[in-house]
Amino acid sequence: MAQGIVVRITVVTLFPEMFAGFTKATILGRAITDGIVEIELVNPREFALNKHHTVDDQPFGGGPGMVMQVDVLKNCLDSLGTRQETQRILLSPRGVPFSQKIATELSRQPHLVFVCGRYEGVDARIESYLDLELSIGDFVMQGGEVGAMAIIEAVTRLIPGVLGKLESAESESFSSHLLEHAHFTRPREFDGSEVPEVLLSGNHQKIAAWREQDATVATLQRRPKLFARHLAASKTGEALAGKLHIALAHHPVKDRAGEVITTSVTNLDLHDMVRMARSYDLAKVWVISPIKAQRDKVLHMAKKWNQELSTHDRARGWQNLEVVSSIEEMKTMLGQPALIGTSAAGGREGMVNASDIWKIIASKETVLLFGSGWGLTETALAGCDYVMNPILNESQYNHLSVRTAMAVVLDRVVGPLVDSYHPMTQSP
Ligand SMILES: C[S@@+](CC[C@H](N)C(=O)[O-])C[C@H]1O[C@@H](n2cnc3c(N)ncnc32)[C@H](O)[C@@H]1O
Repeated sequence: MAQGIVVRITVVTLFPEMFAGFTKATILGRAITDGIVEIELVNPREFALNKHHTVDDQPFGGGPGMVMQVDVLKNCLDSLGTRQETQRILLSPRGVPFSQKIATELSRQPHLVFVCGRYEGVDARIESYLDLELSIGDFVMQGGEVGAMAIIEAVTRLIPGVLGKLESAESESFSSHLLEHAHFTRPREFDGSEVPEVLLSGNHQKIAAWREQDATVATLQRRPKLFARHLAASKTGEALAGKLHIALAHHPVKDRAGEVITTSVTNLDLHDMVRMARSYDLAKVWVISPIKAQRDKVLHMAKKWNQELSTHDRARGWQNLEVVSSIEEMKTMLGQPALIGTSAAGGREGMVNASDIWKIIASKETVLLFGSGWGLTETALAGCDYVMNPILNESQYNHLSVRTAMAVVLDRVVGPLVDSYHPMTQSP
C-alpha cells in the first residue's frame, strides 16, 4: 500500500520499448500501480538538434563506432529538473561498481535519472553534469538499459512499502557484508539430498545459529574479500586474529646442501617475531628448538623483558612467547591446531593462499610455521595440514630471510582487514 512516499525514476534511453514488460511485472509493477514509484522514459532523440534527430557522431581521434553527443544529452537532462532536484546517474563500464550500499543510498533520493549509453558510449564532457557513474560489472553490454533495470530493481525494493515486509530486505546478502544463508523448501529429500535437520526442528535459536554459521562459511568460501570487510565491520576480526599463531622451527630444518640440521636461535628473529605479533594482534609466538641450552636462552630473554622491561610496549609480545622442544609439543599444547607450513618452493599439491587462511582460522586455532636455516624439511612439511604457496614475484628470486617472509605472509593474511577498514582513515 502507498505510504505517501514517491520516488521518481527517469530513464534516458534510445530504446524505451525495452522497459515495457519490466515496468509492468511483479513487485515493481505493483509499486508503480500503488503510486510508490513512478517511472518515466525519455528518449534523447526528442532533444536532437537537427531535423534528422541525430544523437551521435563520429569520435574525435578516429576509431570504430559512434559517440552520443554531449549537447543533446545536456538538453535532455535540463528538461528533467535542476541539479538539486535530481540525482543523475550514467551507466558506464568505467563507473563505480554498483553495490547494496549504493542501492540503499539511492533508495532515499526523491528523483533518480538514469542515462543509458549506446554505441561506443557518451561524450566524456557530460560528466560535469552528472552526480554518479555506475558500472554493474566488469563486462561490456550493448547499452545501459539492462544495467539501469538491474539498479532500479535493487533500489526500488528498498523503498518502504514496496516489499511486503521491510525485514525481508534487511536480512539479505550484503546487509552485514555477509552473503545470505542458504534456503530450502519442500521436498525434504531430493535426489538423495536432505534439508539440514536443524531447519525442521522448530527451535528458532538453533535455526538462527545455523543460518549465521552458513552465511559465514558461504562468504568465507565464495567471497574472501567480502568476508574480510565483514570481519572489519563486525569486530569478529579481532576474535579471529586472536586465533592466529606464528612459529619458528630451528629443527627439523635444512642446511645449504639439504642436510637436516638444528639452527641456533637469533636475537633478531626473536625480537622481530615478538614485534610482529604485537602489530598483528597474534595469539602467540612459538619458538621451537630441541636444544635445552637454546630454549633456556630464549626464556632468559623473555624473563628479562617480562620483569625488568615490563612497562615497555614490546613486553606484551614477550608475554605471548612460548618455547617448546618440538613441533609435536606445540601441537599438543594447542590441542591439535591447523598447522600451515611455509616454503620457498612451490609445486606441491593443494597449496593454500593467504586468502584461504581465514577459512581455516574460522574453524580452529591456526599456526603459520616457518623454518630457519634453508627452510623446513620435507618431513616437517609433510606433517603440516596445509602448505602455503611461496612468496614469488615476477623476478622469480624469493630467498627472503625468515623474518621478512613472516612479515610478508602476515600482511597478506591480515592485510585485507586493514585494507577494508583502516583505523587511520575510516570511522567504525
Ligand atoms: C558498448 S558499451 C560502450 C563500451 C565502451 N566503449 C567501453 O569499452 O567502455 C555502450 C553502453 O553500454 C552501457 N554499459 C555497457 N556495459 C556496462 C556495464 N558493465 N555497466 C554499466 N553500463 C554498461 C554504458 O551505458 C555504455 O555507454
